[in-house]
Amino acid sequence: MRARIVILSGSGLSAESGLPTFRDAAGLWRQHSWQDLASPEGWRKNPALVLEFYNERRAKAWAAQPNAAHLAIATLETKFDVAVVTQNVDSLHERAGSTKVLHVHGELAFARGTGTSRRRYRIDGAPIELGQHCNEGTQLRPDIVWFGEETRHMDTARELVAAADKVLVVGTSLSVYPAASLVDAAREDADKVLNSLEMDEVPRGFRFLAGPATRVVPRIIKEWLR
Ligand code: APR
Repeated sequence: MRARIVILSGSGLSAESGLPTFRDAAGLWRQHSWQDLASPEGWRKNPALVLEFYNERRAKAWAAQPNAAHLAIATLETKFDVAVVTQNVDSLHERAGSTKVLHVHGELAFARGTGTSRRRYRIDGAPIELGQHCNEGTQLRPDIVWFGEETRHMDTARELVAAADKVLVVGTSLSVYPAASLVDAAREDADKVLNSLEMDEVPRGFRFLAGPATRVVPRIIKEWLR
């Protein structure tokens, strides 16, 4: 049986593809209020502002290219059973070639209605406009998990992490729950590595490798593929 690897990724992984993180010096939540832009209350108060924010992010994400770290992660599938659990809403993992990707915070490339239907609509890099409705006639919104909404795939993600022989955490501050709690599901005997530019508290049992993902991640993966 192939050894199992889980990648837990955050916005720092896509930073060198030109996409902003959230809490770094130039992070999105340093420049904007997440209450206004990434919460059900913000949507109710000013949907036009929210749509504009995500339309801009979607266009940028669609124009971005996977970087050396995304590409290296995809090569692991040549030898291992790999699952990517990402907090990222861009499609750079898939565009780099990763075939098993769980987006726990949603995806920019999809829209959905604001009624009961859970149906999603693929929109790639296209904008969502006020007055654009789903099949049920409700206003379309970004298919993103906002603060206060339920994180997705958590049970599956926890099972994958608990079964993994190797776990690589890359580009996340591990400050948003429940996604950040996934590191606690990692097995004692698993090979556990965390890459970030800086980290206040490294989860127990993880080897911390500081530095840009495009430099550090290909090195780890070369080691694992040897
Ligand atoms: N290479 C590696 N790590 C990097 C790089 C880089 N080039 N650039 C930044 N980082 C690291 C930072 O050091 C930081 O630890 O990425 C992390 C980014 O942290 P956050 O900005 O908090 O982003 P993230 O952890 O992805 O946020 C989690 O918060 O706002 C919500 O839903 C949103 O999914 C997001 C969640």
